[in-house]
Amino acid sequence: MTDNTRPTDSLTQQRAAAAAAALPVPCPSVDALDHILPEEPLLMMGAGPVPIPDAVAKANSVVINHLGDTMARVIDQVKSMARYVFQTRSNWVLGVAGPGSAAMEMAVSNLAWPGTRVLSIANGFFSGRMAEMARRVGAEVATLDVADREIVSLDALAQAIERTRPEVVTVVHGETSNTVWNRQLRDIVRIAKASGALVVVDAVCTLSTMPLEMDAWGIDVVITGGQKGLSSIPGVSLIAFSDAAWERVRTRTTPNTHWCLDATLAENFWHNAGYHYTAPVSGVLALHEALRLVCTETLEKRFARHQRCSFALQSGVTALGLELYTPEACRLNSVVGIALPAGVTPRDVCGHISQQYQVEIAGSFGLPIVRIGQMGEQCREHHLFRTVHALGRTMCDLGVKVDLPAGVAALEESLSAAR
Ligand SMILES: Cc1ncc(COP(=O)(O)O)c(C=O)c1O
Repeated sequence: MTDNTRPTDSLTQQRAAAAAAALPVPCPSVDALDHILPEEPLLMMGAGPVPIPDAVAKANSVVINHLGDTMARVIDQVKSMARYVFQTRSNWVLGVAGPGSAAMEMAVSNLAWPGTRVLSIANGFFSGRMAEMARRVGAEVATLDVADREIVSLDALAQAIERTRPEVVTVVHGETSNTVWNRQLRDIVRIAKASGALVVVDAVCTLSTMPLEMDAWGIDVVITGGQKGLSSIPGVSLIAFSDAAWERVRTRTTPNTHWCLDATLAENFWHNAGYHYTAPVSGVLALHEALRLVCTETLEKRFARHQRCSFALQSGVTALGLELYTPEACRLNSVVGIALPAGVTPRDVCGHISQQYQVEIAGSFGLPIVRIGQMGEQCREHHLFRTVHALGRTMCDLGVKVDLPAGVAALEESLSAAR
């Protein structure tokens, strides 16, 4: 192959590029948000974020100083409400300026460092993410791989623990990606703790939607995001460390390479009213209101509401003639996975239902399913009727035979029976 570019051509190009680079960057012409956002807001029934209550939206529009007495009082209340939601008396509750993944990374990067033995129970996309985070801090990571739509066998777990002698075990309570509920979490924790490991639980999908008792079950770290069960905004998350986990964090000899996520630095803001970085005050205020609403409702009633709504949704979807993706024995209630019949893709369904019916539902990382969330404000009867109707109509529009009246009737029957 010959190069026909003459030296003078490339010199001219370089000069032109240098001249363009010297000009000021022109101001772009953009659309106002009103032109970008849909005229009628979509009903957010996907796998998160979820609709937020007015009190949360109002708090999210307020900015106050991130330091000082007012913020200190807010932080104090956030921590005590978070202790209720996590069901822990541990002092070591912190907020995280970042998504649920930042809370995951705070857990992993504070407890693991080069050479730490980590065992990750891997039964989906998000459990894989924790393993990857542990690899990136240099830990020696073993995964206990579990087939799609199955839960880990406790015997296999005991064997993996014996083989790999982990210092840290990670597990996801509700694997949002394939809608699997690791329902024997309590036993997983018991087996891992008996070997001396610390246990990190990702409760991003499940916290406040179903029981999780950090202290009673012996969990060392629980993490959650704001935008799911708590019905707050995305971007401010929560984490709680047990005394044993905090001791490991406090006494480690090499500092965490993630400066923002260093729990000992974050402690300064979350426990000493001091400066770490400028906290996302509006998001913390929103989280305060979201937690306050959980406390007003009480966990007991909230769990019952979630279960009633999710079961009714599952009845409605089944009566439409569609199939639920996950077997009942390990089916997550917080996000319901629906297997799609041949001939329609998640993209077809999600695109059509949002454009035609203003309801947003989710696909899932390449799986042939769509997912409907049942977290926080998504668990309201009027949202369920609209969603089942929109899903049924979408299927008809896309040429899939479903029984729409039967779906809506089954939804109503299930809700009424559990009233
Ligand atoms: C179980 C689980 N873990 C972690 C995450 C990550 O949360 P985020 O997207 O807020 O980083 C998600 C998000 O869907 C999740 O469902």
